Amino acid sequence: MKEGAWISSKKVYFQEPIKFWEEQAKELDWDTMWKLPYKEKLPYFKWFVGGKLNASMNCLDRHLETRLNKTALIWVPEPTKEKPIKITYKELHEKVNKFANLLKRLKVKKGDVVSIYLPMIPEVIISMLACSRIGAIHSVVFSAFSEEALQSRMKDGKSKVLITADGYFRKGKKVDLLKKVKKAVKGTKVKKVIVVPRLEKKVPKGFINYTKEIRKEKSFCKPKIMKSEDTLFILYTSGTTGKPKGVMRDTGGYLTQASTTSKFNFNLHENDIMWCTADVGWITGHTYSCYGPLSLGATLLIYEGSPDFPNFGRWWKIIQENKVNVFYTAPTAIRLFMKFGEKYLKKYNLNSLKILGTVGEPIDEDAWNWYFKKIGKSKLPLIDTWWQTETGANVINSLPGVGPFIPSYAGKPFPGIKMAIVNGKGNKVRVGKPGHLVQLSPFAPGMLQGVFRNKKRYKETYWSKFKNKYDTSDGAFMDKDGNIRLTGRIDDVIKVAGHRLSTAEMENALDDDDCVNEAAIVSVPDKIRGEVPVAFVVLEKGKPSDVLKKKLVNDVRVRIGPIASLKEIYFVDDLPKTRSGKIMRRILKSLLIGEKIKSTTTLVNPECVKKIEDGL
Ligand code: PRX
Repeated sequence: MKEGAWISSKKVYFQEPIKFWEEQAKELDWDTMWKLPYKEKLPYFKWFVGGKLNASMNCLDRHLETRLNKTALIWVPEPTKEKPIKITYKELHEKVNKFANLLKRLKVKKGDVVSIYLPMIPEVIISMLACSRIGAIHSVVFSAFSEEALQSRMKDGKSKVLITADGYFRKGKKVDLLKKVKKAVKGTKVKKVIVVPRLEKKVPKGFINYTKEIRKEKSFCKPKIMKSEDTLFILYTSGTTGKPKGVMRDTGGYLTQASTTSKFNFNLHENDIMWCTADVGWITGHTYSCYGPLSLGATLLIYEGSPDFPNFGRWWKIIQENKVNVFYTAPTAIRLFMKFGEKYLKKYNLNSLKILGTVGEPIDEDAWNWYFKKIGKSKLPLIDTWWQTETGANVINSLPGVGPFIPSYAGKPFPGIKMAIVNGKGNKVRVGKPGHLVQLSPFAPGMLQGVFRNKKRYKETYWSKFKNKYDTSDGAFMDKDGNIRLTGRIDDVIKVAGHRLSTAEMENALDDDDCVNEAAIVSVPDKIRGEVPVAFVVLEKGKPSDVLKKKLVNDVRVRIGPIASLKEIYFVDDLPKTRSGKIMRRILKSLLIGEKIKSTTTLVNPECVKKIEDGL
């Protein structure tokens, strides 16, 4: 069928989302078919009620008959002297099964949370699939996150087992993970730590050696058949309050949307090689570096290291050498290459590429045009995909073969998903007018099923602002043809280099310093990273100094990780506040970017605004 033809022949799907998703779910292997496709009692909803399946079987076992010796996974290590490793479906199946048996030996059972703190090595994919094989809930923590971030996630998940590595390579250097792990496990319920020996052959005493132990296991583990609505994984993400929340995901609905969007948005066929550059520590990596491509029997590629090692030609070299067909990355990376990478680009042949994708933050027109012209040679579809940790898979984008591809517009909602732009009262706004982006019933199958062990937070965060509408916390507007342009987050979440950070989490890290009375974080635009955080700090004691600045910058990095690097700290006497005590970050931001302040009448301390402005 001509690309895109399916969509015109099946227009009916746009009117019947449940039917559409049912049709897609049938592409998966089910142990028991569902009795009811969709059930809704807001703020909860379930997909494929009565259906049973196993995610690892859908990603592995069902391909064995026809794709036994086909490459499932290509792993590119960072050191150039190490050769890429290709793992076939047969080998991946065996590794996952052995590891699943090891987890069982360690008494992990259905419903237990297993934390995974691994770099981009094959074992991260193996671990996720091994958990799903036995019905354990995986909770992946980004390996560049700090020990405190890891610890709080393990505590919240009450995990008893942690899977990690001794370290990994980044920018040519060895990064030690065990140092952080040793500190992080203290005070948690983690009793067993499995270590993948990536850097050294041996693992220190007190840890379980992954390589040694899986050798003892049998190569088949009977999969645990799960209900469609059983939890497949949790993934922590930042919100308005300081504490990250564990976004819960079901099995059947998630796998359906992960698989369908991989197929339609990236035109992914089984002989294609997909490289999604996102780390598996983020939702993009879960869906498009693991479950999506594997459920379709395609080949996925993962790369361990940095885009600039040994130089800015590395990514293009990987594409050329491995004949990557689908390339999915973030605007930040594109901007980085625009600045540093063009001269390297000429050396490589990127003819294998057929689809380009972008995700994580709004893409500006310059970056879009560069990506389209330089990487896509002005002929490849460039799919700008809008979605969130909470939505689990792509939600708004133009389809390859259908379009339209308009720089900086994400496009239309994916078939079967209803999105709207509303005002503060929840009423639809007219064409061109910015408003809140919301999702309407029936809610897409990949959507979050709750916040782990926190019903209240689930209801308050997503369902309290608008009745019966899921609040994305993003701003957007629509053109006359229904194409959506995103304008950024409306809440106190910022996106630094496409990574989601909570201003409150960074403020808490500053507030915990004895010298600090209170702090406010705002973001300012940055040419490469999209936006970067800046802090305003009121001191409790001590004097402003460069030494103190350095210490505070470090406090935040230690609490969250290096992505939370404050660009600047301004010491001030007071922060602008409303009568109810809310810090007006918007005013601080306006001061920083030279925007006119509309009004200070709602403030209890309007005089501080002028003082801060003078200080800046
Ligand atoms: O603000 C939107 C932005 O990233 C947020 C979600 O971040 P996270 O949960 O980390 O997931 C990122 C990857 C799916 C959204 O609320 N965002 C994501 N994709 C886009 C985007 N903003 C504009 N355009 C996009 N394509």
